[in-house]
Amino acid sequence: MRVIIAKDYDEMSVWAANYVAKRILDFNPTAEHPFVLGCPTGSSPLGLYQHLVKLCQEGKVSFRNVVTFNMDEYVGLDVNHPESYHSFMWNNFFNHIDIRKENVHILDGNAPDLLAECARYEEMIAQAGGVDLFMGGVGPDGHIAFNEPGSSLTSRTRIKTLTTNTIQANCRFFDNDESQVPKQALTVGVGTVMDAREVLILCNGPKKARALHHMIENGINHMWTSSMLQMHQHATVVCDEEATVELKISTYQYFKDKQQIEGTVQRFRDLF
Ligand code: GLP
Repeated sequence: MRVIIAKDYDEMSVWAANYVAKRILDFNPTAEHPFVLGCPTGSSPLGLYQHLVKLCQEGKVSFRNVVTFNMDEYVGLDVNHPESYHSFMWNNFFNHIDIRKENVHILDGNAPDLLAECARYEEMIAQAGGVDLFMGGVGPDGHIAFNEPGSSLTSRTRIKTLTTNTIQANCRFFDNDESQVPKQALTVGVGTVMDAREVLILCNGPKKARALHHMIENGINHMWTSSMLQMHQHATVVCDEEATVELKISTYQYFKDKQQIEGTVQRFRDLF
């Protein structure tokens, strides 16, 4: 697992966006052979999306031949609700780039048969040839997508009941009213994310410090589902300084030295 420590949220976001854009450019996608991108929601990726929008509007990267699969969606929330993940993705990203509507995939949390919807989603990912790059964030309890603590580390797309922790963390998007937060979600599984050819995780701010510690320093554990990424052959975590406060000084120093020697932060930060 590679860990990149950016100085702050802005540097993390620009770094991640440039990294993703470079991957798409190097792939040279066509309509017949599109690049398959996994997308998260939440506050962590907002800066990343803003910068990708800028790069697209400046003509530096195109999403014309990019196919997307979102990580998750609330169950029973109208797609037009401002906090649905459908709304989030169109408002913050898809409406501002040159992606084709038919290339966007988001789980339908209002499907009449939710289990069939999950199976259909896995099937569509397989038909697209698998995910080339899954971007993600983490919850304060280290969950990835909505794979709450205790989720199987080989899980596939399914229904999950949200924990009180997650409901409390997400109620900031629902007028700080926990009763308005849906209690269930459809989510890709940890196994679905692990199948991606590459994974890029954003982890920023002091509230994510414990999650970062468990994700990269402790053993693999189903109570911190993002720790499974330690088993991925091509996983990168890009964090900011604030998220590193629970790391051992030696761990912090190791990754800082490595990125200094390799020049990784500057290389992607200053790419475009
Ligand atoms: C939700 C999403 C996750 C996201 C997490 C963190 O639970 N399902 O995919 O990573 O929130 O969100 P934020 O980035 O707002 O802290």
